[in-house]
Amino acid sequence: MNKIVLITGASSGIGLTTAKYLHSIGYKVIGISRSYPKEEYTFDYHLCDITDEKKVMEVAKNIENIYGHIDVLINCAGMGISGAIENTPLKEVEQIYKVNVIGQFLVAKNMLSLLRMSNHGKMINMSSIASEIALPYQAFYSMTKASIDAFTKALAIEVKPFKIQVCAILPGDIKTDFTKNRMQPYQVSNDLYEERTKRSLKRMEKDELNGMEPIRIAKKVEKLIRKKRMPLSTTVGFSYKTIRVLNKLLPEELVQKIVRKLYG
Ligand SMILES: NC(=O)c1ccc[n+]([C@@H]2O[C@H](COP(=O)([O-])OP(=O)(O)OC[C@H]3O[C@@H](n4cnc5c(N)ncnc54)[C@H](OP(=O)(O)O)[C@@H]3O)[C@@H](O)[C@H]2O)c1
Repeated sequence: MNKIVLITGASSGIGLTTAKYLHSIGYKVIGISRSYPKEEYTFDYHLCDITDEKKVMEVAKNIENIYGHIDVLINCAGMGISGAIENTPLKEVEQIYKVNVIGQFLVAKNMLSLLRMSNHGKMINMSSIASEIALPYQAFYSMTKASIDAFTKALAIEVKPFKIQVCAILPGDIKTDFTKNRMQPYQVSNDLYEERTKRSLKRMEKDELNGMEPIRIAKKVEKLIRKKRMPLSTTVGFSYKTIRVLNKLLPEELVQKIVRKLYG
């Protein structure tokens, strides 16, 4: 029987590419986000704001009625904000936590019973290399992704008795609408961080626009689905694998120095 895969954030970027790829090779795919994909798609779709628990519960009920269970949940929906910590208004911080942390929790919470029914369920959470390498002027993004890594590790232990595996993918720079959709720095008068924020953001945007194609992540996801045992966390591409190893081996001060040189 074809595996049933539920993907959040399936209207664009990594989520859409993964949904289309998995569907094209025979998986039954259900996509979720607040809007429909702007390009043609042939998989099942539910409109749902993942920060709205009532809506998430409705979608879970619908999926249960139609499919009975899911085999894989891919938590891909997410957003970014930029700007200096001192300048960031509380409501922007609340917004990114609502989507990247609370939203992923709400989807995971309400879909776990469907994953349990699969008997070999897998959950793949989209984190970021920025969870391990904290980025200046994107602190809240790094913070939410670090939360996803912790969430993944804790949940993996809790659901192991149900034969559900949980894994976080930590992609580096990927060429998607994420760059365009990122909330821009909040304007303040006499901004002491303005120049540095602009320079840092310009570099990040350039790296993302020259980044990997999202199909690389889609293929990694498929590999993880086929794997007997998923790792707790993983990344894609030799350079990002190297960055993760160096980050563990090098003294913290040296890593900080490199990050400051690149993005500070
Ligand atoms: N691009 C990168 O360089 C990069 C690197 C590392 C990690 N990531 C992570 O990969 C994931 C996907 O990012 P992407 O690059 O594909 O960006 P993207 O093209 O901007 O896609 C973001 C997706 O999240 C959905 N979304 C946002 N808020 C939502 C909400 N409240 N409810 C439901 N869906 C919501 C959006 O759909 P709607 O607007 O239709 O709701 C969209 O489908 C994110 O978690 C991101 O942090 C990206």
